[in-house]
Parts: sequence; C-alpha cells; structure tokens
Amino acid sequence: MRILTGIKPTGSLTLGNYIGAIKSLATLQAASPEAEVIVFIADLHALTTPQDKNELRQRKKEIALVYLASGLDREKTILFNQSEISAHNQLGYIMECTSYIGEMERMTQYKDKKKKQVEGIRTSLLTYPALMAADILLYDADIIPVGVDQKQHLELTKTLATRFNNAYGPTFVVPEGFIPKIGKKIMGLQNPTKKMSKSEADNPKDYISLFDSPAEGRNKIKSAITDSGQEVKFDSKNKPGISNLLTIYSGLTNSSIKELELKYASSSYAEFKVDLGEVVYNFLSDLQTKCQQLDSSGILEQVLKRSSAYANLLANRKIEKVYKKLGLR
Ligand code: TYM
Repeated sequence: MRILTGIKPTGSLTLGNYIGAIKSLATLQAASPEAEVIVFIADLHALTTPQDKNELRQRKKEIALVYLASGLDREKTILFNQSEISAHNQLGYIMECTSYIGEMERMTQYKDKKKKQVEGIRTSLLTYPALMAADILLYDADIIPVGVDQKQHLELTKTLATRFNNAYGPTFVVPEGFIPKIGKKIMGLQNPTKKMSKSEADNPKDYISLFDSPAEGRNKIKSAITDSGQEVKFDSKNKPGISNLLTIYSGLTNSSIKELELKYASSSYAEFKVDLGEVVYNFLSDLQTKCQQLDSSGILEQVLKRSSAYANLLANRKIEKVYKKLGLR
C-alpha cells in the first residue's frame, strides 16, 4: 500500500495544514508500518501565483523540516521536491490531454481564486488539477491524506484515472482520499466561518503559522473570536469560534472533543483559552526545536537525496508505461 500527499510552498504553513494534513500522515504511517509513505513539496504548484524566489526556497525547506519533525519515520519516508522529478510535468501534460476544460473550470478553488484576482491569472491556475492528478497517479498511490478543501481535486483525479484506464487498459491505481474526522477544516481565528489559510488571510491574527514564536501563537489564541453564550461546547453551526478552538485543542493533544467538553464543563471561555494557549505554546516550541535540530543535523539532505533517486525510478517507469499505451513509444 502507498500513502501519498503534498503541500504547496506558498505563504507560511499553518496549524490548519498541520492538523488537517501533516499530522495524519505520521498517524497513518504508525498504524500501517508496511505502507510506503511518499510526501512531496509541491513547488511547481506554487508557481500558479507569483512567488519571491528566496522566500520560495526558504518555504520549501521549512515544509521538509516540518514533515520530518512531525513524527514520520526518517528511514522509510520518501520525501522530495516535486520539481526534481520531471515525470510530474510529463504526466501532468498527459492528464491535460485526458481532462476537459469544463472540468477544470468547475473547480471551486479555481473559481474562488479567479474571483479575487481578476487580472493576470496564470494558465496554470486553471490546469493545476491535472498536475495534481499526475502527482498522485505517477506513484500508484492508494491513500491520499488531505484536508477537505482538496476533495474536489481528488474526485477529479479518480475520474481521470478511470477514464484513462477505460480507454487504454489498466494503467493507474484509482486512489482514495483520507480526510481526518477531526481537523479536516481548521477555521480562521478571527473569522471562524472561513478556512484558516496561509495565503488568503488578510489579518495575521486569523492564522497561526508553524513558525510564529510560541508566545505569538499563545496570544493569537487569546485574541481568537469566541461566540455568544459561555459554555465550552462543540456546535459548529451556532458556536463556530469555540468549536474551532476545541478542534485545534483536540488535534494537538489527541484528547477527544467529548473529553475536552467534560474537562471544561464548568470553565469560562477565557479559562479554556488560557489552557489552549499553553498547548499551542508547547506545541510550537517543541516543533521548532525539532526543526532546528534537524536543520543542523544534515539528515534532511540525506533523506531528500535518497528519496528523489527512488521517486525518479518509480515515476520514469510509469511514464514509459503510459507513453507506450498512448503510442508515443
Ligand atoms: P495546500 O498546500 O493548500 O494544503 C496542504 C494540505 O493542508 C490541508 N489544509 C488544511 N486542512 C485543514 N484545515 C485547514 N485550514 C487547511 N488548510 C490546508 C490541505 O487540504 C492539504 O491537504 N493541491 C494541494 C497540494 C498537492 C497535493 C498533491 C496534495 C499537490 N499535489 C497531491 C495531495 C496529493 C494544495 O494546494 O494543498
């Protein structure tokens, strides 16, 4: 079995990315030690919008360090930069030739971004899901852990894999998404009806970056919007603020929401937020210390080198198979 996921190095990584996508990977790896775990930094995807090259390099490294620091097995995990494996571009083009423009135009992420940007929208923003399908199908991945915002892209990947298989005979594994029960969509701290986003927030208090100082993280929890009423109870419809904070607390501690509701049954919002502030403080300082240690150990470079050699091997084999089926070879 293969488990695969990716993260785009745009904006700073948030608690949303961590709880929604990064953490579940280590959990899945621990639960199925026989599975091969493939993680990549989706640097080509970052170019769908303008990027500063120095920041991009920095973010790529940060993501790689966070993945390794998140509890993944360093000996076994395959971790690489997407742009180092040219087969992603090759299969991306084949996926463009397998999909229809209407399918791309229906993607809600594209529609949302187009609404906001209006001018200078890059062609790649539209064709992005074809490259994402290629990222997954190249490696015959079975399980794709992602947050709920990627569900539509995953559905399209399944459609394209099936369409190709039907036209040319069995070629790709049709993957399944893995969307965590808790934390599939962490919301903004100032606007808990909108996804916590690294690239779309106007107010830095709306998200906690994994590289915010621990004290800053704690303060952002303290100033998070809560709802009317005073009961610490999960009710995402009527109490989106406190429900989101409960989800974050549960995502960082592995206490269930029920357990937390019981623990804070007679506490005020403020008391609850003080404790969650400490949880976030400790989480950030622990993660950042691990990242610093890894950064100075040279382990990351070794993992990246070993992984890209292996990924190239798998991906090139797949491309040859696909090209043969299409009559290109
Ligand atoms: P990206 O970089 O926007 O987000 C990376 C992962 O984090 C999840 N996520 C969240 N989960 C919960 N709450 C949030 N507030 C939150 N914000 C982000 C996302 O769902 C995602 O799982 N297209 C992808 C990257 C990608 C990819 C792939 C993923 C490229 N190729 C192949 C899986 C397989 C993206 O832009 O994710």
